[in-house]
Order: sequence, then structure tokens, then C-alpha cells
Amino acid sequence: MAKLKTKSVFVCQQCGKESFKWLGRCPACQEWNSLVETAVSVSARDSSSWLYTKDNIPKELAGLKAEKCPRLVFSMIELNRVLGGGLVLGSVVLIGGDPGIGKSTLLLQVSAAVADSGARVIYVSGEESSQQLGLRAERLGLSGHGLYILTETNIEVILGRLNEMSPSLVAIDSIQTIYLEELSNAPGSIGQIRECTVRLMRWAKQANIPVFITGHVTKEGAIAGPKVLEHIVDVVLYIEGETFSSYRILRSAKNRFGSTNEVGVFEMTAQGLIEVTNPSEVFVTSHPNGAIGSVVVSTFEGSRSLLVEIQALTSLASFGPPRRIATGVDFSRLLLIAAVLTRRAGVNLSNQDVITNVIGGLKISEPAADLGIALAAASSFKDLKVLPKLVAIGEIGLSGELRSVPNLDRRIAEAARLGFKSCLVPRSSYKLSPQSKNMEIIKAGTVYEALRKGLVKPLKESDLKI
Ligand SMILES: Nc1ncnc2c1ncn2[C@@H]1O[C@H](COP(=O)(O)OP(=O)(O)OP(=O)(O)O)[C@@H](O)[C@H]1O
Ligand SMILES: [Mg+2]
Ligand SMILES: [Zn+2]
Repeated sequence: MAKLKTKSVFVCQQCGKESFKWLGRCPACQEWNSLVETAVSVSARDSSSWLYTKDNIPKELAGLKAEKCPRLVFSMIELNRVLGGGLVLGSVVLIGGDPGIGKSTLLLQVSAAVADSGARVIYVSGEESSQQLGLRAERLGLSGHGLYILTETNIEVILGRLNEMSPSLVAIDSIQTIYLEELSNAPGSIGQIRECTVRLMRWAKQANIPVFITGHVTKEGAIAGPKVLEHIVDVVLYIEGETFSSYRILRSAKNRFGSTNEVGVFEMTAQGLIEVTNPSEVFVTSHPNGAIGSVVVSTFEGSRSLLVEIQALTSLASFGPPRRIATGVDFSRLLLIAAVLTRRAGVNLSNQDVITNVIGGLKISEPAADLGIALAAASSFKDLKVLPKLVAIGEIGLSGELRSVPNLDRRIAEAARLGFKSCLVPRSSYKLSPQSKNMEIIKAGTVYEALRKGLVKPLKESDLKI
């Protein structure tokens, strides 16, 4: 008798694309070497949707609009902000980030805070023992009343416990450790992650209870099996931060219930993550006034303006082609700005290495920071100081013109609030002039003009002698 072959497919570990034969490169996401042989799961078919129930009938949209989605509101304002005003009941939120960035810490703090308010919370830990969690809770000063720790990785056992205890909030740390016994592949593989997440999602929708899930990030910076997970869950949050900075930025990459522009700012301390309610103050406090190569810009994240310090350093490329290093700013924007400075503003960076850095670990993708980057680079290259107490705002176009940016008034207001004295802005955008009393508005039409107005010669000692 012929032996029965076990059916297997090759699954891309990045995007979940299935193929019947092995391929060196995934045809869907173009990732190299990402296909892994996986036994076909029987249950994969019934994972299609958590929305189906037996008594499912079409409902008129007009009637549905009135049904408001209730939210669980946290004591951490910064977290509520990123979630779009609190956690929607029945939603599944994925928290991703580099190892050691603070995912478990955030989750434990949030769980304990909710439990403290009298609700029952279950924290499922697949990575740390109850003792470890106990130690952490002690360090963070959490009482732990009403917070139940479950050290379990079998999804069916977990769901059974959840049904028994009917909590108000569930935390799963982390999804890569959870597995479904029926599937032959290892925990953390794409098949397991997808199946376990789908089951959690279905449970959350049916029970109408919110679930937090943490997920590791691969070395390329994406959550392992990112596309698959991001498609399934309702909200995806990333914790970002520099290794040597204590600030952590919580950013949403996807949100079915709110804007994805908002960021929350936290500081990692021995007592855990503490929210920074006034981030601009923190990011620019150590800003040396009128320094060389350091400029404060006003970026807009979601519904608020944040002031951040951008630093640049230029130095003669000693060998090989000049390099550009962009930490915290968009690499292609830096290339554009360096080219415009070289060709349109008399700042020849063609043989210079250009290094930029954003203080505090924030990543700025907005073009409104262009002028700040240009000013910092030019200041470093020409060894000229930046005008003291200045905030630079403006997008740079390819012909060296300054382009208007949205929300200029609110950016200027934030600068005024923190005691800055002048704002360098694109001439084109500044039609309405709300001339705030303590704020001097300096207008410039081109990068060249902005550099002339924003950079000053440092005083030499001889200048001071009478
Ligand atoms: N005693 C302490 N004082 C201050 N900070 C601490 C202390 N102990 C740990 N930390 C901080 O907590 C971080 C660990 O956070 P956490 O375990 O929440 O990260 P994680 O994102 O869950 O990591 P993993 O991916 O390994 O699960 C450490 O990197 C460190 O910065
Ligand atoms: Mg952890
Ligand atoms: Zn793929």
C-alpha cells in the first residue's frame, strides 16, 4: 500500500503567502529566503472570521451608527491618546517593539492600573515566570490586587481559563510563545502566530473584552510575521526609543478606532514607564542656545505640536564617497536637503559626511522639519551659530524654495509657550499674522535667505573689547 503523504506548503514568514514549492524569494513581499515548509493545518479553514454567528442577519447601517463603542479609559493619558481615546471593548491591540524596550513593563503597569480600579485582569505570561513578574511588580510598586498571572502557552488552555474567569482585560505576553497543539509547526512560526491571534480575536469579539498582545520585532524592525498580524488585529502600537535614551515613544501604526498620527511619550525609570505630559519641554530643555549645528524644530504629531532638537555634523569625507547618516530623520529627505544646500544655497556638502540626530529618540518623518535639518547642517559646515531662541519650520522644495506647512499657527504657539523668541517660517505660508507679542516671525522665501537670516557669526573675544 502506498504510504500517505503528509500535505505541506511553504509559507512566507514575512507576509504569510503560501506556495506549493520552495522559492528563494517570496513573490508577494519580495523577501529573500522567507519561505518555510509548514504542515497544512486543518483548522486554518475555520479561521476565516470571528464575525459569523448563527443568527447573523443583515442589519441596516442607519441603525448601527447610533451604537457607540464603549471604551476602557486608562489613567495614562498618553496611552489613551494613542489608542484614540481609550481601549474599545472587544478590540485586540498588538504592542510591538525591540527586545527590552519595555513592552512587558507597559503591559504589566496598565494591567495593574485597571485591576486597581476594581476590575479583574488576566496577564498571560509565556516568557517570564510568576516569580519574575512578582519581582517586577514589586519594583514598579504595583499592588497586584485583582491582577491574575497565568503562566501558560497553550492557547486552548488559556481560552478555557479566560472563559472561566471572565476578566475585564486580558494581556498576552507574548504572542510568539503561544501555540496551538493541533499545528505541527513551532511556536513563533507564522502558522502558529496567525492561528493563535485569530482565536484570541474571535474570543475577544464574542466576549466583548479587550485583549493586549505583545509581539517581538525582527532585526529588520518589523513584528515577526508582521503583515499577517497587522491584518488581523484592530490596533498596532509600536514602542520606539534609542538604546541609550530613557524616552520611549508609543506610536500607532494601525488603528481601526482612531487616528494613527498620535504619539505618546514616556520615560523609562526604575518605577517603570512614566508618562511625559509635556514632551516639548523634555526634548528641548538641554538645547544649547545659539549653538553650532543644533536647531529646534516644531513637528506636528497627530493633534499636537512637539518641539524637538535636531543636530547635524558635517566633516570632510576622509575616504570613499561621502556618507549621510540620518538618525531620527528620513534618509531620503536628508539626501534631498544636502543636495539642495549644495546646489542652491552655496553650502557645498558634496565632499562632506553629514550626520544628523534627533534628541530624545523621536523619529520625524514630516517635511516641515526640512528647514531645521538644513539650518543645522549649514551651521555645522560654515561654523556659524544659529540665532538664539529660534524655532525653524518649513519644507524645502527641489529648487531651494521654502514651502508652506500645515498648522503653522499651532506650531508657533507651542514655540511661544516654551519661551522661544523667534520663528523662521516660509514666506508663502505666512499670510495670517497673529503676531504673538513675544514672538518675532522671520519670513524667508528660499533656503538661502533662511540661512542668511537664521545663522549668526559667533562673537570673538576681540569683538567684546572696547
Ligand atoms: N531596576 C531597573 N531600573 C530601571 N530600569 C529597569 C530596571 N530593570 C529593568 N529595567 C528596564 O526595563 C527594561 C525591560 O523591559 P521589558 O522587560 O518590559 O521589555 P520587553 O520589551 O518586554 O522585552 P522582551 O522583548 O525581552 O520581552 C530594561 O531594558 C530596562 O530598561
Ligand atoms: Mg517582555
Ligand atoms: Zn512574503
